[in-house]
Amino acid sequence: NSEKDKSTTTKTISPDLFGVFFEDLSYAADGGLYAELVQNRSFEYSASDKKDWNSLTAWEYITQGYSYGTLSIESAHPVHPNNPHYLLLNIEDSGQEGLGISNSGYDGITVKAGEQYNFSVYLQQLSPNPIPVTVQLRDKKGTVYGAATFITESGGWKKYNNVLTVNQTADSLKLFVLAKKPGKLAIDEVSLFPQNTFKGEANGLRADLAQAIADLQPKFMRFPGGCLVHGDGLGNMYRWKNTIGPVEQRIQQRNIWNYHQSIGLGFYEYFRFCEDIGAKPLPVVAAGVSCQNSGGTWRIGGIGQKGLPLTDMQGYIQDVLDLIEYANGPVNSKWGAQRAAAGHPKPFNLQYVGIGNEDKQTDDFRLRFKMIYDVVKAKHPEITVVGTVGPSPSGDDYDQGWKFANLLNIPIVDEHFYERPEWFLSNNARYDTYNRKKSEVYIGEYASQGNDLINALTEAAFMTSIERNGDVVRMASYAPLLANSKHTSWNPNLIYFNNSKWVPTVNYYVQQLFSVNQGDSYIRNVVTFNGITDSTLAASCVKDSRTGDIIIKIVNAGTTATSSKIDLKALNIQSKKAKLNILKGNPNDKNTLNEPLKLVPIVSDFDTKTLNNYTVPAYSLSVIRIKGR
Ligand code: AHR
Repeated sequence: NSEKDKSTTTKTISPDLFGVFFEDLSYAADGGLYAELVQNRSFEYSASDKKDWNSLTAWEYITQGYSYGTLSIESAHPVHPNNPHYLLLNIEDSGQEGLGISNSGYDGITVKAGEQYNFSVYLQQLSPNPIPVTVQLRDKKGTVYGAATFITESGGWKKYNNVLTVNQTADSLKLFVLAKKPGKLAIDEVSLFPQNTFKGEANGLRADLAQAIADLQPKFMRFPGGCLVHGDGLGNMYRWKNTIGPVEQRIQQRNIWNYHQSIGLGFYEYFRFCEDIGAKPLPVVAAGVSCQNSGGTWRIGGIGQKGLPLTDMQGYIQDVLDLIEYANGPVNSKWGAQRAAAGHPKPFNLQYVGIGNEDKQTDDFRLRFKMIYDVVKAKHPEITVVGTVGPSPSGDDYDQGWKFANLLNIPIVDEHFYERPEWFLSNNARYDTYNRKKSEVYIGEYASQGNDLINALTEAAFMTSIERNGDVVRMASYAPLLANSKHTSWNPNLIYFNNSKWVPTVNYYVQQLFSVNQGDSYIRNVVTFNGITDSTLAASCVKDSRTGDIIIKIVNAGTTATSSKIDLKALNIQSKKAKLNILKGNPNDKNTLNEPLKLVPIVSDFDTKTLNNYTVPAYSLSVIRIKGR
């Protein structure tokens, strides 16, 4: 049943082929996609996140205008026990300007002219008299870009909300919160959100970055990681239940990529984002063991704790079942009710669940994976489980992983390829011989170690093979997706951003060209290169049954232009209307934040007569879309 057929026949391929993989690394969530502008908003940073970090990281004590008093971090009477730390301000003299704190955001706070920003804070007035509070966005010189004032009320923690209107675009701002009269104030959960989040959602996503992902038209989104899922030690495992509900009640934790997860972007927000962009959600849970790519990793097979104690596994498995109920269960189920309470009575239509990520194929892993897998399979036959076959096809874990997958009949396994560009060219035939009777494949992470055009083209060549093998490869996603250019824990990435803009890498355009031009059937052997076979040349042809369009992709990752021939008979083309989308340049061209538009795909009308002899430029990807109707 392998892909050896040389006839120009059609086969059905996965409709979920190209998607995205979101992991909070390189400040992809906090300081990135999650639109919160205040860093360390609930004073939960600590040295366990990062050496030198503490509850006051990103905060400054402001005692201007002869004000004085004291400031301390407390935990005796928090807003919620899950969010234990808060700041206590004892204002002895509020001076001329007030006593308080300022936050420097993530490398400064960036605002846009004409936009409004939602400020909120939890305060507890601990002295008898009401205290006037001023909130200001200020630059280094003290110029105010937006301000609001309010007066505190007595009686326990209260949430205060204000809107700051900004008339001038600026970056590097700080948010000041100043008490204007003597007294005692407890402060927590200081937040500033643009009103202009993606689709205007509260606790939402940065509009431009979310749109950049939406514009990829991903068919699925895997989240929340990667290594982040298992964490570096059992206590650092990502627990989805800690990430839902009111943000001030979520349990924050260290990020394995050496910073902090505010968890403001949690599972509810992930599911909602998937829904907004039409991507099937693919949440991944740890397989009951911690990450092998970190300190915790190597402890799995050796010293230290190998996996969750078996006595904890029943509870852990229940968490996975509860996740499915949270996504799909009726509103009168325990977890379906939580989803409804968050504002989403309709189910999220969860179809896939990933168990494990790049796990070392030890007995500890296998035992725990099987325990989870067996229960999910038995209780939720409608859910397709995605397993894992280790970090790399060259490692021992890979073969072991496949043996295990075959033994358990795992529907889909996750393969990862961070390889040189040459690897992507020489592995074009990789899936042609995969046994169609065994597990299907999710290529959950791949990248050719660079953001130059040549990298993107070798990925494109590989993606033609993914399409050709879309009957055994169910899904594929480039990784990593997002990186804050000032905090990259990993390179290369698909999208780089700073506080005010983002850049589509050339790799982004390749992903986009494939994703928006996906089909649901593959037409074999349509494109030939006049007898030349060279690993730098690759092509694919798919049909999109919804539109009837036929889409041909041709990659030339080589130094010379080459002529190609497209078999018109096989395509049975009725229409002559076609568009050519071409991405080409010099092999080392790349888009950067300073030069974001160096390479962009150029669209033009295309005469289908040319298909008989189409010259494929050197270093190019051509996508020809022939209108079906
Ligand atoms: O994508 C970055 C990391 O690479 C992921 O967290 C992990 O799965 C892989 O090793």
